[in-house]
This record gives sequence, C-alpha cells and structure tokens, in this order.
Amino acid sequence: MTRDTKTDVTFSLNDLTVTVPEGTTILEAAREAGVEIPTLCWASNLTPVNACRLCVVELQGSRTLVPACSRECEPNAVIHTDSERVALSRKMVLEFLDTTNDLTESPDLQNLIDRYGADSSRYSKPKRMDEDVKIEDDLFIRAYDRCVLCYKCVEACGDDAQFTFAISMAGRGSDMRVSTEFETPLPDSACVYCGNCVGVCPTNALQFKAEFDLRQSEDWDPQRQTSTDTICSYCGVGCTLEVHTQDNEIFKVTSPSDHSVTSGHLCVKGRFGWQYVQPPTRRSPTNH
Ligand code: SF4
Ligand code: SF4
Ligand code: FES
Repeated sequence: MTRDTKTDVTFSLNDLTVTVPEGTTILEAAREAGVEIPTLCWASNLTPVNACRLCVVELQGSRTLVPACSRECEPNAVIHTDSERVALSRKMVLEFLDTTNDLTESPDLQNLIDRYGADSSRYSKPKRMDEDVKIEDDLFIRAYDRCVLCYKCVEACGDDAQFTFAISMAGRGSDMRVSTEFETPLPDSACVYCGNCVGVCPTNALQFKAEFDLRQSEDWDPQRQTSTDTICSYCGVGCTLEVHTQDNEIFKVTSPSDHSVTSGHLCVKGRFGWQYVQPPTRRSPTNH
C-alpha cells in the first residue's frame, strides 16, 4: 500500500468526487472545491467550538446535520451542503440570531438572512436587546446587544491566542453572556487590552472606541476608508499591522489572520499604541 492511499480520503460532495488529505474538515474540503459554506463561530485562527450551527451540512446516514467547520471528511461519505434540510436549518439559525441580536453592523449575516429568506418577525425580542453599551475605557466598547455568543472572543482571550482568560461565558439560556469574573469592570479585570477579542468579533459587539465614536457621529463612510499595511515598530517580533483610516485618521488596527507571525493577534502596543501618531482626542468628544 502506498503512503498516499493511507493518508487520502475520497468522498462525494454535492455529487462531485473529492479527494483530500486525512484530517481535512468538510469546510476545508468544500472551500478547496469551490463550494461555499457559511460560517459564524469558525475562524481560521481559532479552534472550532461548534457554537453557531450555521455551517451544518447533510451527511448521508447521519441522524443529525453535522457541522462542516469541525467534522473531518470520512472515506465514502456522501455530503450535501445546500439541501432543503440544510437550507431550512440555516434559515432558522439566522432567524434566531436576528431575533436576539442587533445585526445592523453585520453585513455578512444580513446577506445570509436575505439569501435564506429568514424572517425574524415571527419571534418576540428578548430583554437583553435593551442592554446599554459598556464604555469603560478609551480603547474599545462592548455592545452585548450585538453579541451572537459565538465564543470567538473567549477563545482569543484564552488558549487560542492570549492565555489571559479574562472573559468567559456566564449564565444559561437567554441569560447567557460574555463576562469578566464576577462582572468586574474591564479595567479592574485580568484583561491586558491586547484587543484580540475585538479583532475576531464578527458583529461589532466588541468595537474599537475610535470606530464607535466615528459611527456615533454619523460620519462613518467606508468609501473614504483605506487600510495600509505596515510593521509594528515597538519590538523585534515585527508584527504586520493593518492600519485602518478614514480621511487619514486611524480608527482601528488589525493584523491579517493568515499572517505567519501574528495569526491575526497583536499585543496592546501594536493594537492600540498609535496615539503618538494621532491622539484619540482629535476625533472623540467623549475622551478627556
Ligand atoms: S462579543 Fe463578539 S466575539 Fe464575543 S461572543 Fe459576542 S459576538 Fe462573539
Ligand atoms: S504588536 Fe506587540 S509583539 Fe507585535 S511587534 Fe508590536 S509590540 Fe511586538
Ligand atoms: S461555523 Fe461551524 S458551528 Fe459555527
């Protein structure tokens, strides 16, 4: 037996015969084959947590739909990624998300809502939608009425990136939320302000304060925005920074998630240490 036959897996994906290395997830195989599967809680730089179920696909012989983001391809499997059952499941997931969250700053989810015909008016809104935005510092805000409980921030704060473990999921059912220990204000918590949670948040529930102020001033205009790659000058690691500006004023700093040095994650200096270029008081009326 050759090495290749041991390590390759061949299966059917939407009636196409696909061969991938053993250990490849259905999502990876699908993307390689040009088949799109929507995701929400999955990210290339985080461990899958199977929280959202948006990526589910139909696996012949399986009683339930399976999450493509974490399920590995199996030999001779027969998989359909957009069957009627899959579409209905995704539609319901999107309806629940739209009912329980403010998705106005999540264009990708809005597109999926349109595509799957999700209608959240069938459900009543829960109380958590009335929660005030938490503004406890000049670096980032937390608007938990936009939080889809995807776990990405918890993962980035924990053993996927920062190993700080300042935040976790608390509560159960409709009271479930992201929280510091004993709901301590963020500046008094274990948070080290790396901003990696903000970097991975898919809904702007966690948002750079400069971006938040810009949106609040109703001057937010993607047409006037640019992203410029540069290298952080603070230490010898040399992280790649993407500096996002509108009219030449910085509103956030990120790093590419596929970058070999950062995997999208930065420290507090690279993420927020740009005040020497441009003090946040230039734009923010709420800063003192
Ligand atoms: S705050 Fe953002 S990253 Fe964290 S769980 Fe909520 S939506 Fe996900
Ligand atoms: S982001 Fe932090 S670790 Fe990376 S180069 Fe800058 S100071 Fe160094
Ligand atoms: S993306 Fe697969 S369960 Fe969320």
